[in-house]
Amino acid sequence: MQITLDTKPFAALEADALVSYVFEDSELVQGRIAEIDQAANGLLTKLAKSGEFSGKPLEMTLIHAPAGLKATRLLLVGAGKKDKFDVASLRKTAGASLRYLKSRSAKQIAFLVREGDLNDSTAQAVAEGALTADLETDKYKTDKKNDKTIESLVIVGYGDAERAAGEKGLARGRTIAEAQNFTRELVNEPSNKLTPMILADKAAAMAKQAGLAVDILDEKKIADLKMGALLSVSQGGPEPPRVIVITYTPASPKPGAPVLGFIGKAVTFDTGGISIKPADGMEKMKYDMAGGATMIGVMRALAALKPNVKVICVVPSTENMPGGTAQKPGDIQTAMSGKTIEVLNTDAEGRLILADAVHYAKQLGVTHMVDAATLTGAIVVALANINVGVFGGADQAWTDKVLASAKAVGEKMWQMPMDDEYREFIKGSFADIQNIGSGKGGGSITGAWFIREFAGDTPWVHLDIAGTAWNDDAKPWLAKGPTGVAVRTLVNLAMSY
Ligand code: BES
Ligand code: ZN
Ligand code: ZN
Repeated sequence: MQITLDTKPFAALEADALVSYVFEDSELVQGRIAEIDQAANGLLTKLAKSGEFSGKPLEMTLIHAPAGLKATRLLLVGAGKKDKFDVASLRKTAGASLRYLKSRSAKQIAFLVREGDLNDSTAQAVAEGALTADLETDKYKTDKKNDKTIESLVIVGYGDAERAAGEKGLARGRTIAEAQNFTRELVNEPSNKLTPMILADKAAAMAKQAGLAVDILDEKKIADLKMGALLSVSQGGPEPPRVIVITYTPASPKPGAPVLGFIGKAVTFDTGGISIKPADGMEKMKYDMAGGATMIGVMRALAALKPNVKVICVVPSTENMPGGTAQKPGDIQTAMSGKTIEVLNTDAEGRLILADAVHYAKQLGVTHMVDAATLTGAIVVALANINVGVFGGADQAWTDKVLASAKAVGEKMWQMPMDDEYREFIKGSFADIQNIGSGKGGGSITGAWFIREFAGDTPWVHLDIAGTAWNDDAKPWLAKGPTGVAVRTLVNLAMSY
C-alpha cells in the first residue's frame, strides 16, 4: 500500500472513499466536518439530527455519491469524546476505517485528519494503524477470489507546515508497522512451516538484508555452552534447537553507554511435553514463539531507525515435545549458569529456555534486559487479552522506563507484584530451584521469579504476552490472530537513547 501526505482541498480529492472522523460532542458538525457538510448541502447535519450517526468510537456511516465531493464515497467514523481522543485512538480509527473500506472493495482512500491534528506523531499513528490493519492472516487460503487490496492511502492535512511535519512520522510509522507485521507473519506460521531451524533461517535472512550482525547457535554450540535448560526442552523431539543472536551496533557508540538485551521465548510448538496439554485448544500453541518473533521484528525496525544504543537480541528456539527421549517430571537439569533445576512440570518450559538465554545475554555484555514470552496461562486469568503483564527486578527505574515507553506508544501494560515472598514458592526440594510454584497460586509471578533468578543483579523486565500476543477474534482494526504486541514499545524504548 502506498501512503502519501497531501494538503489539497478535500473536495477536490479523487478517491474511492474520503474518511473523516467525528467526535461524539454536542456539536457533531463542526470544523472540517462543517465544511464537508456545506459542500454536501447539509447532509451531515440532517444525518446527525436523525440520530444516524453519533460519533461513538468506531461507529461507521458510509455515504454514497456525496454531493460536492470528488470522492465517490464519504465514510464518517466515530471518534468518541474529543477530550479522550489521543494518538492511540487515531491509530485504531485509521486501522478500522481501512478494514471497513477494504471489505467494501475500496482501493484508494483519502484520510482526512482533523484541523491542526496532522504532525509527526499523528502521521506515524495513521501509517501504523493502516499498515497493521491491512495485514490479513489468510496466507494459506487458496481461494483468493475475494481478494481485496488497498492500493493507496492519502493522509490529508491543512497546509504545507502540517505536511512537512508529517513526512518523518510517516516514514517512521511505516518502518515500525512493517516490523510489527513481520513479527505477526512469523507468529502466524504453523509449527510444520516454522521449526526452530526455519525460524533461525528467516531471522538470519532478515538480519543480513537489514545489515545487522547475526549468529545462529546450533545444537552443537548450544551443547558446548552447556545450555542444559534449553537442551532439556528440545530433547523431547527430533527438531534441533537454535539460539538466534542478532546485534545492532550504533555508528558511534558512547563509552559507558548501556547495552540493551532483548530476549524472546520462541517455542515453535508447545505440547506441554510429558506434562502434556489437553487436546482442546492445543493448536494455539503454535504462537508460543511470539516473544522471540517480537524481538526479531524489533531488530528489523532498529536496523532502519538507527538508535544511539547497542542492542543484542537473543532468541532461544525449540519445540516442546513428549517423545521417548523427553525429560520427565522430577528430572534435574543444570542450566548454563550452573544452577540446578528440578523440572516438576515439563509444560513450564519457557522459563527453562529463557534461563539459559538470559545468562548468555549477560555473558555477551548486556547491561539492561527485557524479555518477552507467552509464559503463563495465569496471566490470561489475571489480565485477559487487554494488558501485557509486566514484572520487574530490583531496578524499578528500568521497569518505569519500559512502562513509560508502552504508554507513549499506546500499548497497554500493567505491572505485577514481585514481593520476595513469591520467590519462596520456587525454592527446590532436591535442586537449587524448581520450575513451578508449590501450589499456592500466583503462577505468572513464580514464572517471572524463575527468570529473575538468572537475570541476577542486571536490570531486567519480563513481559508476559500470553494473553495479548494473539487475538481469538478479529478486531475492527486488526485481523484475527497474531497482534505483534510489544514491538512498538521496545522500538520506542531503544529510540529513547
Ligand atoms: N506456553 C504456555 C503458556 C501459555 C498459555 C501461552 C496459554 C499462551 C496461552 C507455557 O509454556 C505453559 O504451558 N505454562 C504453564 C505453566 C504451568 C505448568 C506452571 C501454564 O500456564 O499452564
Ligand atoms: Zn508450556
Ligand atoms: Zn510454552
